[in-house]
Amino acid sequence: MAETNRTASFTLDGESHELPVLSPTEGPDVVDIRKLYSQADVFTYDPGFTSTAACESAITFIDGDEGILLHRGYPIGQLAEKSHYLEVCYLLLYGELPSADQLETFETTVTRHTMIHEQMHNFFRGFRRDAHPMATMVGVVGAMSAFYHDSTDINDPWQREVASFRLIAKMPTIAAMAYKYSIGQPFVYPRNDLDYAANFLNMCFSVPSERYDVDPILARAMDRIFTLHADHEQNASTSTVRLASSSGANPFACIAAGIACLWGPAHGGANQACLEMLRQIGTVDRIPEFIDRAKDRNDPFRLMGFGHRVYKNFDPRATVMKQSADEVLELLGIEDNPTLQVAKELEKQALDDPYFADKKLFPNVDFYSGIILEAMGFPTSMFTPIFALSRTVGWISQWKEQLSDPALKIGRPRQLYTGAAQRDYVDVENR
Ligand code: CMC
Repeated sequence: MAETNRTASFTLDGESHELPVLSPTEGPDVVDIRKLYSQADVFTYDPGFTSTAACESAITFIDGDEGILLHRGYPIGQLAEKSHYLEVCYLLLYGELPSADQLETFETTVTRHTMIHEQMHNFFRGFRRDAHPMATMVGVVGAMSAFYHDSTDINDPWQREVASFRLIAKMPTIAAMAYKYSIGQPFVYPRNDLDYAANFLNMCFSVPSERYDVDPILARAMDRIFTLHADHEQNASTSTVRLASSSGANPFACIAAGIACLWGPAHGGANQACLEMLRQIGTVDRIPEFIDRAKDRNDPFRLMGFGHRVYKNFDPRATVMKQSADEVLELLGIEDNPTLQVAKELEKQALDDPYFADKKLFPNVDFYSGIILEAMGFPTSMFTPIFALSRTVGWISQWKEQLSDPALKIGRPRQLYTGAAQRDYVDVENR
């Protein structure tokens, strides 16, 4: 962050005020309103944070008009094609691509943390079998602070580091266990001879009674899905993690809060909602009916997997995801997949429609991810847990960054109060 020699000035009740303007490495300049209240006795009003930078960050940058997503400066397309998830984790956490030795050490450390405390198995068994895996994950990740007290002191850099490793390493185990529990199959322990993505597939799809070999191409596709979801600057769940953490809450509690926020259908829950919508549409001839509904102001229906607060051109993650969907379906010999057909035709018809063009609504990352995950054998209820496990590294990186920021203050928004003005209590007999 650099101060510029520009200032923003405004006049209020005849009095003029000047505010400094800060310059980021990329993106629009930022008016620094921190002293606004003390100087001018007014607040700003921006409920959905549409014009508000809530923090300073050096991790991820999005240019929504150009469809650009950079992690530590590297374009997501290059990372999805040339890198792999754990390398991207290292990049997000530490700011630079690792050397071969650094990567090996990092991978070994993550791998050594994949098992969860054995007693946590009992904790899983307390949930109903038909619980949504996201509900289970919110509970289990929150409960990690009860199982791993030795990494909850946020003022100890070593404990912060151990908590980061534990969360990144154990999240696939927890997601896979939530799935296995929901289908009544035994939990599968992690296998440290497999890479991160292959191990996750093994924990989800193998059973003790049969041999299961992970298809390396599917493992690569899984890894790419993890990579494409790894971080996305100050989205709702990341901002939730930051807000929770600003009070000094422990890392497991903060990440549980992030998972809870991610679950909503406007955010990470959109991948499940999108596939269910594509199934509901069912055939290409019904697409116009659903497009009309999405355009109808009196109908709450929206095209799930469409639109984004920041991307107003295209979502670069969706481009890679669409390619991956084609590759995975071809590999699995799934030709003429009706859901994919509906998705492709829906995308085409929506993009040709002036309503979507005018509002700059494009397919987002969730539009094609569900098709790949379904083809791999995941039920829709596992789509958002997979998003959550992928995003954990982003949450952790942002959490660590915030804790080392000397400007850290508890997040405490103000409000535009529109309730009753002060009045006197009235005894019940006089109401
Ligand atoms: N279908 C139909 N109309 C839409 C859609 C949609 N998917 N998205 C936005 N609009 C319309 C909306 O009705 C509004 O119209 P008007 O100006 O006439 O009132 C206009 O476009 C702007 O929408 P908004 O809700 O003010 O925009 P937002 O930036 O607050 O919301 C969004 C962004 C992603 C929540 C929204 O586009 C949406 O609900 N999309 C569907 C859910 C979805 O796919 N979410 C995944 C987001 S990407 C992954 C992630 O971040 O988790």
